[in-house]
Amino acid sequence: MELTSMWRFITVTLCSITFPVTNTIHSKPNFVLIMADDLGIGDIGCFGNDTIRTPNIDKLAKEGVKLTQHIAAAPICTPSRAAFLTGRYPMRSGMDFSGAGRALMCLSASGGLPPNETTFAKILQANGYSTGIIGKWHQGLNCETRGDHCHHPLSHGFNYFYGMPFTLFRECQTEFRKTFYAHSPSHLSLYSQVLAITAVTLITVKYTNLGIRPLKLMICCVLFSLLYFLSWYIPLGFTHYWNCIVMRNHEIVQQPMNIQRTTHEILQELHQFIERNKNIPFLLFVSFLHVHTPLVSTKRFIGNSRHGIYGDNVEEMDFMVGSIVDAIDNTGLKNNTLIYFTSDHGGHLEVTYVNTQVGGWNGIYKGGKGMAGWEGGIRVPGIIRWTNVVRPDTIIDEPTSLMDIYPTVVQLGGGELPNDKIIDGRSLVPLLKNQATHSEHEFLFHYCGRNLHAVRWHQKDSGTIWKAHYMTPIFHPEGAVGCYDTILCKCEGEHVMLHNPPLLFNLSEDPSESKQLQPLDTHFEAVISKIDLAVAEHQKTISTVPQQLSLSNNRWKPWLQPCCGTFPFCWCNKDNTNVTSLI
Ligand SMILES: *[C@@H]1O[C@H](CO)[C@@H](O)[C@H](O)[C@H]1NC(C)=O
Ligand SMILES: *[C@@H]1O[C@H](CO)[C@@H](O)[C@H](O)[C@H]1NC(C)=O
Ligand SMILES: *[C@@H]1O[C@H](CO)[C@@H](O)[C@H](O)[C@H]1NC(C)=O
Repeated sequence: MELTSMWRFITVTLCSITFPVTNTIHSKPNFVLIMADDLGIGDIGCFGNDTIRTPNIDKLAKEGVKLTQHIAAAPICTPSRAAFLTGRYPMRSGMDFSGAGRALMCLSASGGLPPNETTFAKILQANGYSTGIIGKWHQGLNCETRGDHCHHPLSHGFNYFYGMPFTLFRECQTEFRKTFYAHSPSHLSLYSQVLAITAVTLITVKYTNLGIRPLKLMICCVLFSLLYFLSWYIPLGFTHYWNCIVMRNHEIVQQPMNIQRTTHEILQELHQFIERNKNIPFLLFVSFLHVHTPLVSTKRFIGNSRHGIYGDNVEEMDFMVGSIVDAIDNTGLKNNTLIYFTSDHGGHLEVTYVNTQVGGWNGIYKGGKGMAGWEGGIRVPGIIRWTNVVRPDTIIDEPTSLMDIYPTVVQLGGGELPNDKIIDGRSLVPLLKNQATHSEHEFLFHYCGRNLHAVRWHQKDSGTIWKAHYMTPIFHPEGAVGCYDTILCKCEGEHVMLHNPPLLFNLSEDPSESKQLQPLDTHFEAVISKIDLAVAEHQKTISTVPQQLSLSNNRWKPWLQPCCGTFPFCWCNKDNTNVTSLI
């Protein structure tokens, strides 16, 4: 042994004997980042709901800060989560799209969070953190071959993953599948497409002289139509086998998932992660499957709330939050763990489940999931508890973004922000430590897919928050707030109304965006020209990158289909031991 390494050995040994490095005296905090799926800001007690019981989330807010103007970068899962993980507007990573597929539509699509993006997990991992994600991913899986896992959480800085690489949706539940496929209209349109293709080909052959034998061509045509049909039908018909799967790290453990067990399993995994990592700094991303449809709750919560299966599921999620917080506190990690709670975007107004309205509630805010400009789609609950650092029972009304978690976590974890990328989030540390009264965000851009729908201006001198809408979705039926004919409002074309001059609201005085300012009002001109200028500056910073959710990247590719077994015979259950019920 060389002298220097000998010396290092001695000092390290001595140090570890005299000062055992345990988490409680470690200067780096742990992070537990909790994100609900589709939860509305009006669904929890501390944000004004007096009929849903969320005592654990309310307690978290009581012991920490409540961010009342906490804004998602997109009004729908995949792009909002991409922005959260990268601290960047989703169009910077190509993770948004204005067309039909605004989120990843199936697990075998080739799109996903590009490998050259740097998540906060990657930075913390490089700084000695144990990083885990338990729950939903929905950021893609494979690029070119089944199992390359280029978009997998473990390729993006997480050491541990347990949960759904895709997202929960209604077809994951047996009862729902039965009712849904009984009256699915989409098959009809597929049949007509196939017929149309066949007809066009036959007519072409009849009236042109291509020298091809009609019979041969007809066989080709029928085969092609059949393939085309299958490429759509198979993902629909077998969707639960192929999308509703559970993985542990790189291994598929349930295909299809056993949805009745999932809540128990996730809770058990959360406890085990905390227990395994209690002596080292860790970051745990709790990415709940709650409260997305199909809203499967455990026995203890079924029929308990005053708001049907949705309320039951919210109350169950609240219980899980309490269970995680208790695990942190009972392990002696309370003083050294920053706990964050949020939702990926607003509640889904138009969603129904077996013909009943089951979406979340966005309180006084207009609109919901899918709508980028209206506040209800993007203003979500934000809570941070960091004992002994943030003063309990504090309210921060300043505009903050889900993208702010990125620089906050990186700063506190001792990492450096990437210097080759634009980071749109701003550290929350000055606000949390009461060293600043204003957030650093002057403008926040509210995108729907790739279309800029609205801009928020935080006027520093007066403190006023303005919002200008350049486009708004056209609601159906008329007079309703929402797009009840299509389940989700669309971002562009005939589905939106363009506004020139933009619609302007003073959010500070009119948070529900009901009193539109008039072009002749005192501030109108000045505010709009300030915002227009900011848009022009902002647009200069956007470069063209590969579109991860384009039609070709966001459709079923059999060769990328994760499969437990031999494709196409994909099923297994490796998680069939008893799960300890913590509920
Ligand atoms: C509480 O949440 C439920 C379910 O989303 C909703 O129906 C109800 O209107 C909310 N109540 C209040 C006071 O916001
Ligand atoms: C946490 O901090 C409080 C106040 O400083 C202290 O009384 C308590 O003992 C600490 N708890 C742990 C587990 O270190
Ligand atoms: C990632 O790679 C794509 C494609 O090569 C490129 O367009 C993009 O700018 C890269 N992004 C970053 C953040 O380096």
